[in-house]
Amino acid sequence: MKVVILAGGGGTRLFPLSRPSFPKQFLKIDGENSLLGQTVARFLSRVEAKDILVVTNQEYLYHVQSELADCGASDAHVILEPIGRNTAPAIALAVKYCTDVLDCNHNEVIFVSPADHVIRSGKEFLQCVDFAITLARRDKLVTFGILPSKPETGYGYIEAEEKNNNEYEVISFKEKPELALAKAYLKAGNYYWNSGMFAFTIGLMLAELNRYQPEIVKLLEADYEKVIGNFGAMPNISIDYAIAERSTSVMMVPLTCYWNDIGSWDAIYEVLEKDEAGNSLDGDCLAVDCKNSLFMGRDRLIVGIGLDDILLVETNDVIVAAKKGESQKVKDVVDELKRHN
Ligand code: GDD
Ligand code: MG
Repeated sequence: MKVVILAGGGGTRLFPLSRPSFPKQFLKIDGENSLLGQTVARFLSRVEAKDILVVTNQEYLYHVQSELADCGASDAHVILEPIGRNTAPAIALAVKYCTDVLDCNHNEVIFVSPADHVIRSGKEFLQCVDFAITLARRDKLVTFGILPSKPETGYGYIEAEEKNNNEYEVISFKEKPELALAKAYLKAGNYYWNSGMFAFTIGLMLAELNRYQPEIVKLLEADYEKVIGNFGAMPNISIDYAIAERSTSVMMVPLTCYWNDIGSWDAIYEVLEKDEAGNSLDGDCLAVDCKNSLFMGRDRLIVGIGLDDILLVETNDVIVAAKKGESQKVKDVVDELKRHN
């Protein structure tokens, strides 16, 4: 098995801590290691470092290398995209690297993981991984489903039906539905959030790319260096739209351990430990008569007095203070700032 970790995304929903030059996967939110470091460590009990491939770009190379060194995985391969074309081309490039550089055959299972999630309970997680590998060997595209708790529109939704013990056949896959649809899915009960992880054989992925994204396959038909040279011509599309929504060979493994894609400051508050007043204080912070709030100080002392349900994040150049429940709007702020710069 090869583990492909996607670490080239540039999300800014955790602004001001995450920036285009330092995105979420490199943040140390939950513990000593960054989210990328935690992801790598999660797989080291199943594969050796040399079987891990991190797909990223030149701008993040330094951060990726230092994270790999920190978790004793310097032997991992780092694949550099000349330009980000989203996750379908990133995965296709990793498949090409496996066949051409690592000499893998079409039966090799590839396990794809995002680099920006919090996952807890190592044992349960690894059991799900092992089960997914068994299913992938049957030439299935295996997804991991999480029981949804709200009509989140930032995720993919998997409609699934249990066939055998814990083997779920996927009836449909819908990436990032509109709110009304997400609400209907939540009500229906047989829809799961897509975790963003996938397992498949190289043979299956090439067949599905050939069927649904022939443009990508055409660009892969050259030697590896040439594929890199032409990478900018790849369509900008995620694996969810490119393959998962269209394939008829999709299965799902229910992910039973704790999973959080921490896509907002509200989600970070949820993940972090809290004191008896429900406050999560990180850095140099002083909370007087405050409740259920997150203070994250990086450079200066933060003092809060009489605050409830506040998310406050400080860096050397920006301070964001948001009401709990409103932090999704950080994305709008970042868009607005981009327009002004
Ligand atoms: N190498 C590389 N190149 N990595 C990329 C690129 C790229 O162009 N774009 C994104 N990534 C990485 C991100 O860094 C992240 O680790 C992972 O791929 C997923 O990309 P996101 O951009 O974070 O996807 P998303 O969160 O909008 O949606 C995906 O994840 C959701 C769960 O968090 C989808 O798979 C959804 O269906 C899913 O629900
Ligand atoms: Mg994401």
